[in-house]
Amino acid sequence: MGIRKPVVAANWKMNGNKQLVTDFLKAVADSGASTNIDIVLSPPATLLDFTQTQRDSLCKDVILAAQNMSQLDNGAYTGELSAQLFKDVGCNWVYCGHSERRHKYGESSKLVAKKFIQAKKNGLVPVLCVGETEEERKKGKAFSRLTSQIEAVINLAGKDCFDNAILAYEPVWAIGTGNAASPEIAQEAHKFIRGMVAAMRQECSENIRILYGGSVKPENAKELFSQPDIDGGLIGGASLKPHDFVEICQAAK
Ligand code: G3P
Repeated sequence: MGIRKPVVAANWKMNGNKQLVTDFLKAVADSGASTNIDIVLSPPATLLDFTQTQRDSLCKDVILAAQNMSQLDNGAYTGELSAQLFKDVGCNWVYCGHSERRHKYGESSKLVAKKFIQAKKNGLVPVLCVGETEEERKKGKAFSRLTSQIEAVINLAGKDCFDNAILAYEPVWAIGTGNAASPEIAQEAHKFIRGMVAAMRQECSENIRILYGGSVKPENAKELFSQPDIDGGLIGGASLKPHDFVEICQAAK
């Protein structure tokens, strides 16, 4: 990897508990895994407060990220979660447009763009997640899907929207399947995405970190992270095993 500080993010989705939070943070602290890379932990929202407390005592440099803001603003929305609440509980980043939000909960690229803007408005670094389905890839429509997902944010947030933001390429067909994209396919997509940013702002394209997500494991992390336009990973299942996650972090250095 070049000038960009690598990132390895743990997206626990709707999994985990207080014991795993403690075990995860101790494994990161004991291994020194966060030296020279940014490590991100995204537990379920109910664990964020506990995680912040544990992070502050066990491993201060771990970045806390929320998985999804379900409402754009505070207010009379029983059961919902906003960027303001995440900021208040110590979050630094928030994912926008994870494929499970798009495909399981029908989030449109326009709504994702609004959440992206709301994240920045509330002092959170947005992680914009994009990726194509297996059908779109088979039909040769992968890059048009990535283009539409990224342009939706640019159209609403402006050409400087990716300053102080993170991008994540997560091919839907690789998430949770054990079937990671090949380093070549992943690199091609990352290069395309970085090229879209460069078309607007060259300097931003050189600095923005673009993470790969989709069945990253200790066995494949090194080859994926060694690609020139892959700046780390967004890890699901493997991040629920602290020692596997630490191994993946070592591969990002
Ligand atoms: O956000 C990362 C996640 O979607 C990847 O999941 O289990 O394929 O590593 P997994």
